[in-house]
Amino acid sequence: MEDNETSGGDEPHVPSPTVWPIGFAIGIATLLVGLIVNPLWISTIGAAIAIVFGVLWARAATSELRGRPVEVEPERRDLTATAAPAGAAATAPPAPGETFPRNRFLEGTTLGLGALIGGVLTVPVAGFALLPAFLKQKKFVVDLGSISDYAEGQWYVTTFTVDPTEVEVSRRTAFIRNNGLIATGGKQAPSFTIISNRCVHLGCPVQANGPSGAILGMKTVRPQTPHSAVSAVPSVPAGFGCPCHGGQYDTEGNRTAGPPVRALDRYDYSIANGRLLLTSRYSVSKVDGTGAQAKIHKYKSVGPGEHVDGWEQIFYPLNPPHN
Ligand code: FES
Repeated sequence: MEDNETSGGDEPHVPSPTVWPIGFAIGIATLLVGLIVNPLWISTIGAAIAIVFGVLWARAATSELRGRPVEVEPERRDLTATAAPAGAAATAPPAPGETFPRNRFLEGTTLGLGALIGGVLTVPVAGFALLPAFLKQKKFVVDLGSISDYAEGQWYVTTFTVDPTEVEVSRRTAFIRNNGLIATGGKQAPSFTIISNRCVHLGCPVQANGPSGAILGMKTVRPQTPHSAVSAVPSVPAGFGCPCHGGQYDTEGNRTAGPPVRALDRYDYSIANGRLLLTSRYSVSKVDGTGAQAKIHKYKSVGPGEHVDGWEQIFYPLNPPHN
């Protein structure tokens, strides 16, 4: 009977199930998601959850170890058994919970140090990898020239650079049409359609489906701007097409064929002192109507291939800002 009782210490240790590791994992996951979505609040909440559950987990683990019966190694059992008659104080086996077995101490410290090192390595790397995409985006305003450079009703394939420090690397193309004046708030204001040429399938450069420039006997317009070299090539497109996989769009940027998942992105603009100023890009699910009367279903700018409406949008919860 005694052998059966003491042999229990040789059984492999299986920790009791606990919910603390799950809470700890949720905290870490929230922390990492927060680094992308909202570094200040969500990351802080995630870190707090991880710390609370981590402490509770550690407490549960150590109290379990403290409360477990002590395993006496076989050699030591033999020694204590033989030495018992010589002196009770020196040979009495340790009472349950009186000492902390070395193997369990090593097990706990190894796991704890592993978790600490993993956290110290993972969190900064994740932060450095993900945060710049959200925090280091520059806002831009591009002067595209006087609105009189753009003849009313005429399309222009316009190229410009968005960042003077990056010059040609930041060159973009947009299809621009001057829609003429529209009445807004009791006043007449200029209206422009400005469509990005970045294909919303995989990002290839979309082309105007129709004659452009010299074929039309029209000159390229080079508006004088302090910002960048702007070039506006007159065009008469029947629509826009992507050379990569055959994506097709109408002149409002609505997808008409091929793999793109939404309408072409557009640029916001403003008019100041008679000049056309381009600001941020935004995404569009579809456009109803045309020209100045178009109703644009507008969304925050997202990357190519991403849905902005419908149930598929749940697959794209996070989007770093980009130009
Ligand atoms: S990238 Fe334009 S259709 Fe594929």
